[in-house]
Parts: sequence; structure tokens; C-alpha cells
Amino acid sequence: MTTLELPALRSQRLNALTHAPHERLDHAVKAHEPFSSRERFARFVVAQYLFQSELQALYQDAELGKIFPDLPQRCRAEQARLDLADLDTEVPAPVAGAVDKPSLAHALGWLFVSEGSKLGAAFLIKRVAAMGLDENTGARHLGEPEGGRAEGWKRFTRTLDALELSEAEEREAEAGAIAAFERFSHLLQHSYDSAPAAV
Ligand code: HEM
Repeated sequence: MTTLELPALRSQRLNALTHAPHERLDHAVKAHEPFSSRERFARFVVAQYLFQSELQALYQDAELGKIFPDLPQRCRAEQARLDLADLDTEVPAPVAGAVDKPSLAHALGWLFVSEGSKLGAAFLIKRVAAMGLDENTGARHLGEPEGGRAEGWKRFTRTLDALELSEAEEREAEAGAIAAFERFSHLLQHSYDSAPAAV
């Protein structure tokens, strides 16, 4: 895709640029059959926990918090940790290679992906009921955010789209979004590879 064909709004541009990585990740998630048993779902939650806990510093960052005032409440690391407890799964050890002190623009790309993943979560949470799980047990991190899923996303993208970025920062944000998808894919694979033998 050339720059000329890309949408004008930053959020839509990031969406278009990450369409292929999203497709690949969607397929990777489904290939691991996370809804076939609580044990397999727990591995998916391990990946979600690792991803969210790696992003905690960004969600609590003061500069980013000035841009998105509700940023700290948006982080789902704590919900994912409680989900792990519900699923009798230990909190995993950190995995080398987490994003570390990114530039503000790069961080925006990561947050875009983390926040965007709440949209897909609306579909995923429907599948957990068969395992006796819901937004209060085992799948809290996929639950509807306070104030509503669609509204939360609109608020986030409205702010993201209104920011003034230089051309160089624009590229950094795009690279951040791509890197976030790569990281989630890595954590997903790591999570299933490090599963107890019975899973
Ligand atoms: C770590 C990042 C992400 C993960 C793990 C993820 C995972 C998934 C999965 C597995 C599905 C399929 C759900 C189903 O068919 O039951 C899905 C769907 C969806 N995702 Fe994501 N996603 C991520 C990021 C994003 C981002 C950044 C956006 C938007 C900006 C997004 C928007 C959507 C939407 C709208 C759907 C609904 C169906 C579709 O249009 O494909 N996701 N996601």
C-alpha cells in the first residue's frame, strides 16, 4: 500500500497498515484453539497478561496521561492477573524483549493496538461461556470497559487522531503498532510453548 492510498485519519491509517498482522494474529490465536478447554484458554490469558504487564509503564506514563486522561484505568494487567488466579494458573515470569522506554510517538502505536484489541475481545468473550467463564471469572480482561467498549474506543481514537505529529513521529507510531502485533504474536507462541505438558 502506498502512502497516497492510505486514509487521512491516523487511527484508520494504523488500522489499514496493521490489517495483515492482525489477520495473521487472529489466525494464530484460533490455531491454538483457546476455547477448547480452560487449560488452553489459560495459555491465551498468559499471553494477554504478559502483553498488558509489559505495557503498564506506558499506561502509567505521565506524558501520555496528559494526552489520554483515563489512560491508567484502561490497562488490563490487573484483570488478566485475576483471570490467571481464577484459572489456577501461575503468574508467568517476564519474557525478554519487552518494549522499553519508547518515544511518545512509538508508544502511541503500541497503545493503539492494545486498545484496539478490546474490540476483538467483544467476540472472544462470547466464546468463554461454554467453559463456565465470564467477565467476572477468568475472562475479566475481555470484559466491557467502564463506559462502554465502542465509546471507549471512540474517545481514544478521537484524541489520537487530533494529535499533531511530525512525519518522523508518524512513522514511529506506525512502527510501534507493527511492533506491538509482533510482540503479541511472540508472547502467544511463548505462552503455548511453555504450557504444562497436559495442556
Ligand atoms: C494484541 C492485539 C490484538 C489481538 C490479540 C486481536 C485478536 C483478535 C481476534 C482473535 C479476533 C477474532 C475474533 C473472532 O472472530 O471471534 C479479532 C477481531 C477483531 N479485532 Fe482484533 N486483535 C488485536 C488488535 C486489534 C486492533 C488494534 C484492532 C483495531 C484497531 C482490532 C479490531 C478488531 C475487530 C473490529 C475485530 C472484529 C472482527 C474483525 O473485524 O476482524 N483488533 N481480534
